[in-house]
Amino acid sequence: MRRFRQYRTTQSVRDQFADVPDIRPHHFIYPYFVVEGNGIKQEITSMEGIYRFSIDLLLDDIADTLSLGIDKVLLFGVIPEEEKDERGSAAYSEDNIISKAVRAIKARYPQIVVYTDICLCEYTSHGHCGLLYENGKPIAYDEELKALRRTGCSCPKPHHDAVIIDNDSTLPLLAEMAYQHALAGADFVAPSAMMDGQIEALRRKLDSDSRTHRTKILAYSAKYASAYYGPFRDAAGSAPGFGDRKSYQMDYRTHDQGLEEIEADIEEGTDWIMVKPALAYLDIIYRASISFPRHPLVAYQVSGEYSMLLNAARQGYFDEKRIFHESLTAILRAGARYIISYYAKRYFRK
Ligand code: PBG
Ligand code: ZN
Repeated sequence: MRRFRQYRTTQSVRDQFADVPDIRPHHFIYPYFVVEGNGIKQEITSMEGIYRFSIDLLLDDIADTLSLGIDKVLLFGVIPEEEKDERGSAAYSEDNIISKAVRAIKARYPQIVVYTDICLCEYTSHGHCGLLYENGKPIAYDEELKALRRTGCSCPKPHHDAVIIDNDSTLPLLAEMAYQHALAGADFVAPSAMMDGQIEALRRKLDSDSRTHRTKILAYSAKYASAYYGPFRDAAGSAPGFGDRKSYQMDYRTHDQGLEEIEADIEEGTDWIMVKPALAYLDIIYRASISFPRHPLVAYQVSGEYSMLLNAARQGYFDEKRIFHESLTAILRAGARYIISYYAKRYFRK
């Protein structure tokens, strides 16, 4: 008989043998949804305790975030439907919502590390992460396609199967968006569109200007087409108007593609790498941490993970802090160095 229970006799003994780092504020990157306007703090129905903020109240909330010891934030822009167009122009205009937010944050809190999400889906009328093409030509998001949004059509007719999300024509738009955020002072730009070559496109653009060549890249490298993004799409108003994202986000029925995606992003010049979602992808996190030890690895505990755990705790099925402690510890144990989590603030709240 081997005696293991000696490692578990008291809290103090258990603490002595615990070798996964304790969860600390520096592990977290906290996500924010930003809207135009003033005095807005609007709770997101699908994500209890998470809000859309106008910049003035965002600044107040960041003071609270800093007081909990969290000094890294990830920004998502949310705009009204009327301001969206087929090319997602509002994402990369000079007066885009995120650049304004970054300037305001950096002016008030120079010590905070700002990451900005780089993707078009929150800004396109069709809700896809890139530009629409049909038979090799750019196409309009016309009435027929819009009707599909309303009916949720899943018929095999060519109208949506023939529509592709074009890779290469999307790249300069993502690069311009990153460039605008970088000019505003973002520390990291974080491309999440899953277009091939997006890291190289961003790096080239950022390197072309001495004001932006120090801006770093956090690549959403292994990002899977996941049902766990459901609540986010409500939060950001970024649900695809028709079809799904399976032609660009990864198929989770693969073992090695995630590692290949990460390897390519590193070759293209990313600084940090990411696996997303987290809990259902701990194997990928683990393998990435072993294969790419020199690149800080971020895991994204996504909206669906947050809502799932929080709602079950709310129902009294288990203790909220403990279930998050266990899940977040698993993510660190798998090898993540940082975690993007909507729970970060709540975790450190007494
Ligand atoms: C935008 C983006 C998404 C998320 C982060 N960036 C949504 C998506 O890909 O549909 C998901 C984050 C979450 O669920 O918390 N491309
Ligand atoms: Zn997107």
